[in-house]
Amino acid sequence: MPGPHHILCVDDEPMIREILREALEQEGHRVTEAENGKVALDKVHSGSFDLIVTDVKMPVMDGFTLMKNLGDLTEQIPVVVITSFGDIDVAVDAIRLGAYDYIVKPFNISQVTISVKRALERRQLLLENIQYKKSLEHKVVEKTIDLIRKNKKLEQQAKLLEGLLRDLRESYEASLDAMVSAIESRDCETKHHCRRVQVYAVMLAQRLDVSPEQLVDISYGSLLHDVGKIGVPDSILLKPGKLTDAEWQVMRRHTIIGHQMLSKIKFLRGASDIVLHHHERWDGGGYPHGIAGEEIPLGARIFSIIDTYDAMTSKRPYKEALPIATARAEIERCAGTQFDPRIVKEFLRIVDEDLIEARAHVESETAMSEPPAAPTEPVRTF
Ligand SMILES: [Fe+2]
Ligand SMILES: [Fe+2]
Repeated sequence: MPGPHHILCVDDEPMIREILREALEQEGHRVTEAENGKVALDKVHSGSFDLIVTDVKMPVMDGFTLMKNLGDLTEQIPVVVITSFGDIDVAVDAIRLGAYDYIVKPFNISQVTISVKRALERRQLLLENIQYKKSLEHKVVEKTIDLIRKNKKLEQQAKLLEGLLRDLRESYEASLDAMVSAIESRDCETKHHCRRVQVYAVMLAQRLDVSPEQLVDISYGSLLHDVGKIGVPDSILLKPGKLTDAEWQVMRRHTIIGHQMLSKIKFLRGASDIVLHHHERWDGGGYPHGIAGEEIPLGARIFSIIDTYDAMTSKRPYKEALPIATARAEIERCAGTQFDPRIVKEFLRIVDEDLIEARAHVESETAMSEPPAAPTEPVRTF
């Protein structure tokens, strides 16, 4: 226990004060005297004390009034009360008022020094506890401020990242737009086919509860399904008559070329699988790998239905657009041979109005962003 402690001895009898002083100084404490509660109170307010030893009955201000005036201070400055013999009610009241201990007169001086020692020890514990709580509160405040600062910094970084991502997304979209325009300007069956199949495929995929990542792959895969035709020479791509077997071999390579182009781009890797397999058939009779059933990626199985639907319901230079009902019947007929029957079932649940609205939406969107179209060459669906 750190010392020496400063003790205030309050008694109207100088003799008692003297005895207390001597005993407490011998214990190594510093002692200040006061002859009544009023003087003691003044001294407490102008100095710093570790403990008060006080008589109860005194002129001017008694010990109880002194304690009442001290109020909460008795928590930090413990009070030891000295009462007259037999006055046990007084002692009980003193404890009730916050006194640490009481000693009955006439007292043995060792009773006082022992009580003072204990009161000081208890005070020390109390002070350490208060100190600990304060440092804890301080730490909590510091940590909170630190967290707020870090949060603000994170918010700023998040905003910056959001901006960068937006730029990146916009530049991706611009690159994809350029790719689609490149395909459509050379071939891609009819105008807006790529964008229409993208919207239809997403519509169908959403009904099949695919993951958000798969949905993005299906969207890009559908949009770019024939990107590989960029690698097919015009002499084959735009040939008016029938293709020879050798030319067919070249034409079929557009799936592989497209896959090679897109699989190198990280965010199009998933889409590249749809591009590779968009001409596979459920019964294994498709290309380029001739895989069957669920071996064919889900996105490609969804897409092949959509690609056929759009080809049938779109006007070509050499044919009129077929009615939606005819296209539905043809797709239903091919369930289990060309198409995954489960996906066909779901496709057939899409109402005509939704398909018509999707087509109109694409047409109005693309019409606003495109230069006047060049005359369309007659082409086949590969
Ligand atoms: Fe194709
Ligand atoms: Fe197509």
